[in-house]
Amino acid sequence: MSTTHPLTTASGIPVADNQNSLSAGPRGPLLLQDFHLIEKLQHFNRERIPERVVHAKGSGAYGTFTVTHDITRLTKAKLFAAVGKTTESFVRFSTVGGEKGSADTERDPRGFAMRFYTEDGNWDLVGNNTPMFYIKDPIKFPDFVHTQKRDPQTNLKSAEMMFDFWSKAPESLHQVTMLFSSRGTPDGYRHMHGFGSHTYSLINAAGERVFVKWHMYTLQGIKNLEAHEAVRIAGVDPDYAQRDLFNAIATGDFPRWEVRLQVATEAELAAWENKTGWNPFDLTKVWPHADFPRIPVGVLELNRNPVNYHAEVEQAAFSPANTVPGMGYSPDKMLQGRLFGYHDAQLYRVGTNHQQLPVNAPRCPFHNQQRDGQMAGVGKDNNGGSAPNYATVEAAGTAPQGFGHGDAGWALSGAAGRFDGRGQEDDFTQAGNLFRVLSAVEQRKLCENLAGPLSQVMAKTMERQLGHFDKADPAYGMGVRAALRERGVTA
Ligand code: HEM
Repeated sequence: MSTTHPLTTASGIPVADNQNSLSAGPRGPLLLQDFHLIEKLQHFNRERIPERVVHAKGSGAYGTFTVTHDITRLTKAKLFAAVGKTTESFVRFSTVGGEKGSADTERDPRGFAMRFYTEDGNWDLVGNNTPMFYIKDPIKFPDFVHTQKRDPQTNLKSAEMMFDFWSKAPESLHQVTMLFSSRGTPDGYRHMHGFGSHTYSLINAAGERVFVKWHMYTLQGIKNLEAHEAVRIAGVDPDYAQRDLFNAIATGDFPRWEVRLQVATEAELAAWENKTGWNPFDLTKVWPHADFPRIPVGVLELNRNPVNYHAEVEQAAFSPANTVPGMGYSPDKMLQGRLFGYHDAQLYRVGTNHQQLPVNAPRCPFHNQQRDGQMAGVGKDNNGGSAPNYATVEAAGTAPQGFGHGDAGWALSGAAGRFDGRGQEDDFTQAGNLFRVLSAVEQRKLCENLAGPLSQVMAKTMERQLGHFDKADPAYGMGVRAALRERGVTA
């Protein structure tokens, strides 16, 4: 891209020659006083920031969320205050296990991170294209992610590491089933659903809390790639999904998702848990639609490409902890772990003042006493300007804002401890249900997709994993064994 502006240094000083270094005579050596050369090389050496520890490869776009149905009986969150109300949004899609340069079409869940710039601050709904997850306790997350990345010695991805983990963590079977189904290779980012996945809460003006799950349904229709096609595209166009999203928005073909909500009171969840035996806050489970219907809420449209990828997409810093008044968390252990994880990662990845960057700063006024640190003042708020840098302490106690959003908490029970639910919790029925809703053709594809990596693992790992398929549905186990036999593997 050419520009007609005269070249300057970063300090605005005109640069006379950007092609020839200052040298002692035509053959050199070079002179230390060529500050432009030195600054150019120095900045180049510092261009990279650490990639995200997961979800490193991604694509982002701005858009608008529009309320289509009234949910003010459920929440006082201002973005839902009236039908027709719009809120500026930013979304980043991603793959999970690959590095920043990896192929967009790899078999993987897809990240579906949403930010809503509300007048009460940023609400980040950091979801995936799957409604469940592999594990139910965040203490397993680093180990799990290591199995999705590279072997410490060979530096290769390893089917053995992956299935060693999955076969010893049967709670992963539900998500593994989805991953190896056709949904594991979506055709770009526009043709997939999104899910908040966790149970969150909503709080209305009367202070009443309900628990909810968020769903984003693609209005472009679901489209997946055949497994062999995904592999082919990984070779010829590794940035397939980035290209598809950018071009669609650039040509005015704006992708849209219908936002829906499953809602339950604490009492309804307790009754459901009694009936099914499933913990409603267990992230490896879904809330069946028949038990908890999905009510319409609004439409999310993406309609503006970022101007600068690094500034706006690479430096975007989402956090599930960002919920606004009228919303809250749930006891889901995974969500609780994530409330800590994201901001901490971004302090390292982007820096102390990452929330001041334009893509991360709230659009509403904000006031706190966080000051200074590297790159303070990068945002419009100018490091807090001349505002006081300490909170005044009232003689009679704290100021009335209170903790969090000032909402009532939920009752807690039980003694502190480490609880191992293995062997007591049902990790197989919902995975079996997912297998059973697939058509015969889709079941076959699932089994074939699994047989590829499974044929590479050790016999005992294979046996353990096959045992899980059998428990979910005998036909599932038989299907994977048949697909293995077609690859010459007897199990
Ligand atoms: C305990 C479990 C988890 C931990 C500790 C964890 C941690 C992280 C961390 C550290 C990042 C990088 C953040 C950054 O550098 O900006 C990340 C990114 C992400 N995670 Fe998780 N994660 C967990 C589970 C999940 C789950 C269950 C979902 C989906 C429901 C999810 C969705 C995402 C997405 C979409 C991103 C990329 C955000 C973006 O586009 O910038 N994660 N996760």
